[in-house]
Amino acid sequence: MKLTPEEKEMLKGERGEGCKLAMEILTEVGEAYDVSKLIPVQSAHIVLSTYKSIFDAGVEALETFASLGAKAMIPTTVDPAGMDLDRWEALDTPKDYAKKQWRIVDACHALEFIPCWTCTPYLCGLLPREGDHLAWTESSAVVFANSILGARTNRETAVIDLAAAVAGRTLYHGLHIDENRWGQLLIEVQLKCLTPEHYNILGYFMGEQAGTKIPVLIGMEKTFRFENFKGMGAASAASGGVPLFHVVGVTPEAPTIEKAFGQNSVPDPIPFGEIQMKETKARMCTAEPGTLDAVMVGCPHYTITEIRDLARLLDGRKISPNVRFWIYTYKSTILLAERLGYKEIVEKAGAEFISDTCMIVSPTELYGFKRIMTDSGKCAYYAPTQIQSDVIFGSIQECVESAVKGEWTGLA
Ligand code: F3S
Repeated sequence: MKLTPEEKEMLKGERGEGCKLAMEILTEVGEAYDVSKLIPVQSAHIVLSTYKSIFDAGVEALETFASLGAKAMIPTTVDPAGMDLDRWEALDTPKDYAKKQWRIVDACHALEFIPCWTCTPYLCGLLPREGDHLAWTESSAVVFANSILGARTNRETAVIDLAAAVAGRTLYHGLHIDENRWGQLLIEVQLKCLTPEHYNILGYFMGEQAGTKIPVLIGMEKTFRFENFKGMGAASAASGGVPLFHVVGVTPEAPTIEKAFGQNSVPDPIPFGEIQMKETKARMCTAEPGTLDAVMVGCPHYTITEIRDLARLLDGRKISPNVRFWIYTYKSTILLAERLGYKEIVEKAGAEFISDTCMIVSPTELYGFKRIMTDSGKCAYYAPTQIQSDVIFGSIQECVESAVKGEWTGLA
């Protein structure tokens, strides 16, 4: 691997032991994969943030870097933690689990990572520009950064993300390179006036069809609602491994179908119409009609606009006392919701905000829920394994109606 003079100094330890360790990791992995060089990155986003996913090995990796005096060389944000950092006791988080989570928090603090604890780092001060190279993990953030913002990042793995944060560079391969960003699969959207629910279903379908290929979508209206693409990308990165998609006429690298495919040939389109929509929604539900234990929304973390929409639906309603209704987001959004009066409305209806974490990366399975409902395609995909419950996917309107009734009456 070719290194610059500065990188050679870093590898020798002239910028500190933490930086040396980061460079050792990057160069050894790079050489194993035959990567030609490193590339400077503008920011990092790390998933070494929840004990539920990283276990003792991840905690030790963070603490090792912290004990060597390492600091983030570039702005570095962290994905959701494994619990609400303020209300963890009130939410019955086991104490031994919480202790490990606090070690993660302390190490991230020592490394000077920005403690936003969210999967939407692009909403809290870390907004990449088109063409920026990044080292981000968190599949929903990666697909958003690549597709909607036109930035360039692979789906980094844990520890590589940490090394990249400390060294300020990552491996030059995959989606950092032009030709690896060209479309490989064509989906023709045959429906108009898509709702947020439809975008999630489309994302889920796209992931199933594409796997890790790069889909190109045609036929979509040119209207742009940021939250729709947030949900769609997250679903596609979960049901498949989509790291980048192009929407012709909408996303930065796809002004035309030819540009979206670059030098790849344009394949026959896969249709996405009424039938595919219905069939995909059915696959996203594993439960039979009946009583409901919980509704969980905010995957990816809810924006203030989504909270406003929910507050309008919940205004003057009462959620069944048998149903927990949890809204996941990050701290500053809750503050905004409070100032705008939305927090009071949703809490009066019986819903609760949970911050710093989410239903998938915290030990939600310990509540023993049998049936949960969500408006998120990504959550629908992971709930059966990560929450160990049956799942129902529906629009936010359906989620609210079911929560008020205390039961789900089945697919419309
Ligand atoms: Fe974010 Fe958790 Fe969903 S990290 S994308 S809310 S699974």
